[in-house]
Amino acid sequence: MVEKLEKIKSEALKAINDCLNEVDLNNIKSKYMGKKSEFTEIMAGMAKLLQEEKKNVGIKSNEVRTAISEALDERLKSIKAESLNKKLEQDKIDISLPSKKVRMGTRHPLTIVREEIEDLFISMGYDVVDGPEIETDNYAFEMLNLPKSHPARDAQDSFYITEEMLLRPHTSPVQIRSMLANEEKKPFKLICPGKTYRRDDDDATHSHQFSQIEGLVVGENISLSDLKGTLEVFARKMFGRSREIRFRSSFFPFTEPSYEVDVSCFNCDSKGCNICKGTGWIEILGCGMVHPNVLENCGFDHTKYQGFAFGVGIERVASLKYGVNNIRDYFTNDYRFLSNFDRKEM
Ligand code: DAH
Repeated sequence: MVEKLEKIKSEALKAINDCLNEVDLNNIKSKYMGKKSEFTEIMAGMAKLLQEEKKNVGIKSNEVRTAISEALDERLKSIKAESLNKKLEQDKIDISLPSKKVRMGTRHPLTIVREEIEDLFISMGYDVVDGPEIETDNYAFEMLNLPKSHPARDAQDSFYITEEMLLRPHTSPVQIRSMLANEEKKPFKLICPGKTYRRDDDDATHSHQFSQIEGLVVGENISLSDLKGTLEVFARKMFGRSREIRFRSSFFPFTEPSYEVDVSCFNCDSKGCNICKGTGWIEILGCGMVHPNVLENCGFDHTKYQGFAFGVGIERVASLKYGVNNIRDYFTNDYRFLSNFDRKEM
């Protein structure tokens, strides 16, 4: 019996050793250790053996069972490892192939200019606020002192969605929104950058979509000199330390008095060139002291409070700064154009 067991062991171990895959290994397991195996048969017949022989066979069978199952485990492990290695070998990636070049994006020139202006006004204590691009006629015109019959509306013809809703033609309605939202009617300073729309025919200097930054300051004892000082800081930050500004009388229904602001030409130092059209000055924005009607429309007592406001076109500032001649370049997303800006981050 003991010899029989020894023979089972050596046969099984040899078969296990020669085995090359998991399926065969399972077959070997059931052949030598399964229900119908010789080993199980011997176990079943143990009861009939004499005491002494039972002991010897018992010891031997334990030894054989342990040896076979250890060998099975061991072999299974190595078969798995071999097949993994084989897979890895076959799946090898050829890292010597050159990769596709990934292009880094850059900030859009309008974003660069907008953020530069935002940073400047934030540093002077202004809030940066947002407003909807779809606006009511009431906020876009009426409350800004531009009744339906007002001729100045023509200059801002927009895209109407209904009789009362339109794509905003300027960021000025944010003035109304912020003053109405200011429940305690407390002084404040804000700018609002955003997209604006007008029914202009597109050409090199006009676009039906463009962007502006609105500025509004309301408080006590606010005067024209505050506006002038603020815009001087702005002009010098955007166009150079030695720039001068000048105010020209103008008209906007929501300001009184109203001005158009020019900056001394940074290209020729005011000597006259093609950028300033020989005048030495370049127009950059519109501004004025907030009209008392506008303050009152929004619940601010105009005998106590004054304010100044301005509106600047972001494309205009960017074009002057970067020498861009065609406003359409900002919107056509040509990588060759866009990659000219923001080089430091490329
Ligand atoms: N909203 C004017 C425009 O789009 C620009 C402007 C002028 C805004 C004077 C102002 C202002 O706040 O005071 O043409």
